[in-house]
Amino acid sequence: MSQKIVAVKGMNDLLPGEIEIWQHVERLTRELFGRFGYSEIRTPIVEDTSLFVRSVGEETDIVGKEMYTFDDKAGRSLSLRPEGTAPAARAYIEHSVLNQEPLTRWYYMGPMFRYERMKTGRYRQFYQIGAEAYGAKEAAQDVEVMDMVTQFLQALGLQDITLNLNSLGDEACRPAYYEKLVEYLKAHREELCGDCHRRLETNPLRVLDCKNEACQAVAAKGPSVLEFLCEPCRDHFDDVQRKLTALGVRFVVNPRMVRGLDYYTRTVFEFVASHPALGTASTVGGGGRYDKLVKSLGGPDVPAVGFACGVDRLVLLLKESQQKFAATPDLFIAVADADSQDAAFTLASRLRREGLRVDFDTRGGSLRSQMKRSDKSGAAFTLVLGGQEFTSGQAKLKRMAGGEPIPVALDDIARTVRAQSGAPQVAPAAT
Ligand code: HAM
Repeated sequence: MSQKIVAVKGMNDLLPGEIEIWQHVERLTRELFGRFGYSEIRTPIVEDTSLFVRSVGEETDIVGKEMYTFDDKAGRSLSLRPEGTAPAARAYIEHSVLNQEPLTRWYYMGPMFRYERMKTGRYRQFYQIGAEAYGAKEAAQDVEVMDMVTQFLQALGLQDITLNLNSLGDEACRPAYYEKLVEYLKAHREELCGDCHRRLETNPLRVLDCKNEACQAVAAKGPSVLEFLCEPCRDHFDDVQRKLTALGVRFVVNPRMVRGLDYYTRTVFEFVASHPALGTASTVGGGGRYDKLVKSLGGPDVPAVGFACGVDRLVLLLKESQQKFAATPDLFIAVADADSQDAAFTLASRLRREGLRVDFDTRGGSLRSQMKRSDKSGAAFTLVLGGQEFTSGQAKLKRMAGGEPIPVALDDIARTVRAQSGAPQVAPAAT
């Protein structure tokens, strides 16, 4: 027997039963982000490797260890995108968007790739829903983004998620903090892992998000970045907190949170869930301000702020909630005798054109097996059609939840089903 081929490790199939949750999350994203004035963008899944090296940072785990990088046939180094901020910034620059509008709000959703150690909530192909706003340096823009995530998580019905907030300062105040941090880390050098010895020289902030437990213990006791903020950064951070409070968005200040990407300046934040279903992969979303990134990629000097949520993790939480997502058929059409199969098939097609969700067994089969399928499908109504119904033009609509059958004319089924289920009458599709 030939060997079975299975999906690549860390990459999951999404099948009916679960996909409805994904579709629900995506529908809500479009609706809610639209309310905030964000427009969708779609960028390629593959980018020039240097885009991520120059933005996310060479010393980060994402670029240093986790990227899927390969040479194409022309010898160019390409990478599967590990995140969406750098590709969005690349597109923003490439299409000279600043010349068209001074304030731009974009969102995206799609797969990202990181070669990570797998566990619950951590995959190698995972999905993000993210948004980026370019052009505003004001605290109100940071707060708008965090408000949007908060409303998004609330609209999904997710609870017990804490917004962690911090500021990383900017190029004016970060050097003094770095100096103190390096001094502290050098004093604890023996306790740090080999990677962090290197990071100490190249990018000390990265020691603070090392996944090694000993390094985390050292980081937890290090100097707080907030004590080093210069006046403009302090004012900005205060303004962010004041505005979040005014909107009723709850948060906690977490001075140890630095995020795992290099491009941030000032505000950084993470939404952390406390549900056991996520295990240690409890961060459902994160983001922050990155005022220097667009310029460093060769674009204009434009401030920006954004976030991304991990959809896989949101879906894990939604699976735990008691919400129902699957859309069931309005009607199941069962055929009582083989001679009526074609007429019933034609009727099913017509009713779909008229806007009903109709299930029909194209294989025919016994009435008993069709009724079993109808039960399983969760259809609201079933019609059993045979020679008698097609001759008289009359049938009986059976409500699957129980109750008396409802007499119906065969040319009035769609209207009757809608009226009986309380659904709004919709215009039939154009033919
Ligand atoms: P990030 O924190 O690296 O930020 O990823 C955002 C979210 O993606 C995480 O909070 C998590 O929910 C999800 N995620 C990350 N890695 C995985 C994985 N291996 N499996 C499942 N889910 C995962 C960014 O990517 C930034 N681009 C966010 C941003 C946008 N900052 C500014 N704008």
